Amino acid sequence: MNKIGIIGAMELEVERLKAEMTESNIITKAGMDFHEGKLNGASVVVVRCGIGKVNAALCVQILADVFQVTHVINTGVAGSLNAELDIGDILISKDALHYDMDVTIFGYKSGEVPQMGFREFTADRRLASLAQEACQKVNPGLHVRIGRVVSGDQFISDKNVKEHLIAEFQGDCTEMEGASIAHGAYLNHIPFVIIRAISDKADNSAEMDYPTFEAQAAKHSAALVMEMVQNI
Ligand code: ADE
Repeated sequence: MNKIGIIGAMELEVERLKAEMTESNIITKAGMDFHEGKLNGASVVVVRCGIGKVNAALCVQILADVFQVTHVINTGVAGSLNAELDIGDILISKDALHYDMDVTIFGYKSGEVPQMGFREFTADRRLASLAQEACQKVNPGLHVRIGRVVSGDQFISDKNVKEHLIAEFQGDCTEMEGASIAHGAYLNHIPFVIIRAISDKADNSAEMDYPTFEAQAAKHSAALVMEMVQNI
């Protein structure tokens, strides 16, 4: 039977999902509260992992080992790296990579975890298309795009850093957890998708825009997840 792990980094990204759950039971591990129960008829475990790649990796491993989830969804907000992705739009992952992994000195590609042989963790195509369909249903006015998530332990708010992430990694959005969730899901053979609503442009305007648009963006992403879980 399917059990879907749903990870958000911040309370804002999971609070609505938790509020809509029924038969919910809380199990705490590594300082994270895992809410196990039903969402729109689907068996789910909803959790706020905290910010950054270490928290995200620990969380996905707990979902695999303790809850034996069959699918992983990461919901939340992100900075846009693509001129066609505006604040409020949605990015659904085609793949994800760690932009802050750099062992190029030994011949690895920038972003490649040594000896993996690739740098992009590919998202599950079926989950990505279910997310796209769900978005058209619940957020019909929003522009949705399938693309690349590039993750690192940095809030990006500098135009030059943004340009680097585009040139080096062809990222469509940037955030601080997705690639770790993708990496952990890959190692545990669990299909995953990352769904991010754009809260800022990851440039010098990001510190102004982020607090203004964060809540609305997180709401869009959560609404989409709630709709899609029943179809998995
Ligand atoms: N999450 C939302 N916006 C972000 C940004 N600009 N950098 C990193 N993570 C983000």
